Amino acid sequence: MTEFRRIETVSPYEHVIATQQFDLEFLADVFQRADHFRNKEKQRRTALNRKGYARDDLEGWNVLVAFYEPSTRTRFSFEVAARNLGAMVTSSDSMNAFSSAKKGESIEHTVKTLSQYGHILVMRFGNEGDAIRAAKASDVPVINAGEAGHSPNSPYNCQHPTQALLDLYTILNETGGLSDKTIAFVGDLKHGRTSNSLAYLFGKIEECSDDVDQRVLEYLGIRRGKQNNKLLFVAPDICQVGSDILRYLDSKGVSYEVTGNLDTALASADATYMLRTQLERIDDQDEAREIAGKYRIDNSNIHLLRERGIIMHPLPVDSNQRELDDGVEYDAKSRVFDQVLNGLVVRMGLLKAMRDYREKQIENGS
Ligand code: NCD
Repeated sequence: MTEFRRIETVSPYEHVIATQQFDLEFLADVFQRADHFRNKEKQRRTALNRKGYARDDLEGWNVLVAFYEPSTRTRFSFEVAARNLGAMVTSSDSMNAFSSAKKGESIEHTVKTLSQYGHILVMRFGNEGDAIRAAKASDVPVINAGEAGHSPNSPYNCQHPTQALLDLYTILNETGGLSDKTIAFVGDLKHGRTSNSLAYLFGKIEECSDDVDQRVLEYLGIRRGKQNNKLLFVAPDICQVGSDILRYLDSKGVSYEVTGNLDTALASADATYMLRTQLERIDDQDEAREIAGKYRIDNSNIHLLRERGIIMHPLPVDSNQRELDDGVEYDAKSRVFDQVLNGLVVRMGLLKAMRDYREKQIENGS
């Protein structure tokens, strides 16, 4: 078992558990690789160039994909990303029902077993704390592809760090830089792991130290010192953002506002990040009914968005709650499906970066 002191000290090239691990160099590295793959992906979709990828990027690697919770985009994009780069993929999307978890096996034993078969494990976890336990037990890198619901007491738990990567990459590409931005998070912020992971990441990038390479700063569209970003948390009181996140943002000097007013947020945000209410994580169904679908973007308020303001959503949109309605997900202001494509190329970039790191380690004999 590997011992971790603080998660921040675990290299994200080694294991990806929480966004507090990421630094600016790592973000720029993964994003630049994603740029490369995005160009390839675009070429590949034209009739003239159907080949596209250097399929030896992950040659010889067995990527094991093991999910304990439902997923569409995260699982498919990881599997396609790995295959595009020439890896072999073995997956289970129903670990709860069909793995030995059903027979009482601990996450440690399952992960130790899987790490005898694969070169990297991509896992979605159903229980708080499992991502860290898995990384400690594994003989190979573990990527947390989403862990349970939010836990305000453990800032490293219940995150979705690769979603935060693709969301930040989308904001960078669509708003032209990661400073002087106002980002509104709207909906069930209590249980949504995607918004929480992204909020931590904004804390992480707020202060840029003197020793960061100028090229990294230019690429990410940030400056030395403070970035002057602002986060708006728009939610009903009972599912507002956790105190852990606000404490983290305070410690990093990020300005934020906790509010219930969607109209004002739409008018000031560069990006508005919508969320469904996570009914599967709420015991009190009266509470759930009260908040589900309370905040929407539809034909009645989309005009409130500022001229260059964009709409984001990690998906899925719940077609009963209709937090995006009247087809606004297809509007020119929506980047919802750009996020989907970015998810593929960012995950390709991440896998390739982790592979290169591993190869260097082996060359150096460690
Ligand atoms: C999200 C998730 O699983 O956390 N989806 C995703 O990974 N793109 C959001 C959600 O479930 O609402």
